[in-house]
Amino acid sequence: MSDPFFEPYDRDDIAYGEKPSGSLAAYLNQVKGGGKALDLGAGAGRDSIALAIAGYQVLAVDLSARGLERIAQRAERAGVLKRVETLASDVRKIDLPPNTYDAIVATTVLDHIPLADSQALWKRMTEALTDRGVLYVQVHTTEDPGSDQLPGRLSDAPVSETAAEVINYFSPNQLASWAADPDRRLRILRYEERLEWDYTHGPEHLHGKAVLLAVRSGLFPNWYGQPAAFPKQE
Ligand SMILES: C[S@@+](CC[C@H](N)C(=O)[O-])C[C@H]1O[C@@H](n2cnc3c(N)ncnc32)[C@H](O)[C@@H]1O
Repeated sequence: MSDPFFEPYDRDDIAYGEKPSGSLAAYLNQVKGGGKALDLGAGAGRDSIALAIAGYQVLAVDLSARGLERIAQRAERAGVLKRVETLASDVRKIDLPPNTYDAIVATTVLDHIPLADSQALWKRMTEALTDRGVLYVQVHTTEDPGSDQLPGRLSDAPVSETAAEVINYFSPNQLASWAADPDRRLRILRYEERLEWDYTHGPEHLHGKAVLLAVRSGLFPNWYGQPAAFPKQE
């Protein structure tokens, strides 16, 4: 099977960069990590490596063999190779036993699969979270200029060269409403819908994104927001 992400992950100046996703990094800075983490659609591993450095034992899953190779390289360089396992698999096919992962990350993968599959995976992911679990999810929205829906389809901003891989653009509030469903047993720490420019692969382009940071309902970690609002002074 050809890998549409081979070239973005093959280059020195790697796609999506070295820095982990912002809200995930803010959470890892503030709340002590540890336990098992799952990074779905891990790509070249910017979030997997941050999770490993924060003390998690990480399983990074992606279809891109080149991405997984780069994750192993980066983990070695960061001195966390023992804490990162890679798995070449379709995220829809992985085993997700309930109450197993203390952190689950899905940075732009629920939008790379059809809506029905995305809903089924969302249900299994949220069930796989432990009672001390944190969930970080990012998806492309209909604000993205690659979307065939409003308002994105009216945008004249440049579209990502990998936009064809995004097949399920989320509508306004959709991810928030999934997270607020009481059956999912989540408490939202942060949610936003925003635009962002991407300079990390191909010609510069615009994205519309929805970003969710949530924990299990009933969990109250020492989270002061992003940026941290009024943390305790040392
Ligand atoms: C936009 S990239 C994001 C990569 C990474 N999460 C990041 O933010 O740096 C999307 C990733 O999802 C992977 N992907 C797409 N569909 C997938 C599927 N069904 N199963 C596993 N991985 C998938 C792609 O190979 C790609 O690496």
